Amino acid sequence: MTPNTPIFPQGASTYSTEVDILFYVYLGLAAFFTVAIFGLVTVFAVKYRRKKATDVGVEPQGHATVIEVTWTVLPLILMLGAAIWGLKIYVQQLTPPPNAKEYYVVGKQWMWKIEHPDGRREINELHVPKGEDIKLKMTSEDVIHSFFIPAFRIKVDAVPGRYNTMWFNAAKTGTYHLFCAEYCGVDHARMIGRVVVMEPHEYQEWLSGTKVRAATATGEELFVAKACNTCHRPDSSARAPILNGIFGKEVALLGGKTIVADDEYIRESILNPGAKVVSGYQPIMPTFKGQLSEEEIIQLIKYVRSLSPGADKGVPKTASLAFSSSAEAHP
Ligand code: CUA
Repeated sequence: MTPNTPIFPQGASTYSTEVDILFYVYLGLAAFFTVAIFGLVTVFAVKYRRKKATDVGVEPQGHATVIEVTWTVLPLILMLGAAIWGLKIYVQQLTPPPNAKEYYVVGKQWMWKIEHPDGRREINELHVPKGEDIKLKMTSEDVIHSFFIPAFRIKVDAVPGRYNTMWFNAAKTGTYHLFCAEYCGVDHARMIGRVVVMEPHEYQEWLSGTKVRAATATGEELFVAKACNTCHRPDSSARAPILNGIFGKEVALLGGKTIVADDEYIRESILNPGAKVVSGYQPIMPTFKGQLSEEEIIQLIKYVRSLSPGADKGVPKTASLAFSSSAEAHP
């Protein structure tokens, strides 16, 4: 069932009401000042029009300063207030609650590829449970797209080379429009989809339904296939930082700076390893630019995140089997 397109979309997320109120306040302010300004222009044009050819204008006396300060300061306060309110909502939309479920979104000419926290994937559809905090981390494989769910009052750009985060909490079950809101090529208008909000138990059932076979290898498989494990290994012959437990931690870099090992940093280290080398290591890692799709990079990031702080937990056992010869040859 395709939802219809009303002029004003229905609200279906926890902050859609506040966004709507803000919108109406902006609209009200704009309408008020438009009417006030053009109304006064008309009134004064009639009232103070030149009645005789000999009329000469007179400079206003007395309360001019009071009037000028009032019509400057009052709108300033009103507009600043509205701007700060808008900023508050904007920041709130970009700051997910700590326990939000994390979904990855990859934009591509011309489709949305979505991965659920459990690894399930969909294209141009996003199924979510009602009443839960949903965090979307999005990027793009080619050009800038924009992920727009009008009913949730959210729109965030998917930008190549970077992860943009936003979140929502769907308040009502139903099916809602999903649009690309950034002109991205000939089929931009067809880069659409739908968001299905389900009751939490229905969502669980849906998740356990027919599994879509992942087209991409898992992060663990990639970690072995790309031979990451020959250098990132938890023993004395490691030539690269041990990745166990590194996610979200601060790491010291060559040159004395530190950085938090987040999605962004891991992505950069895969594609441009020389950019921020961890202190104590040589910049010997080759780049994997052009060898991994955005989805594969996301798999690797998720894999690194899953590596527990324990010394050898999580490192693929197949690592030493598949690459033992090369690993042993260069201790
Ligand atoms: Cu993607 Cu427009």
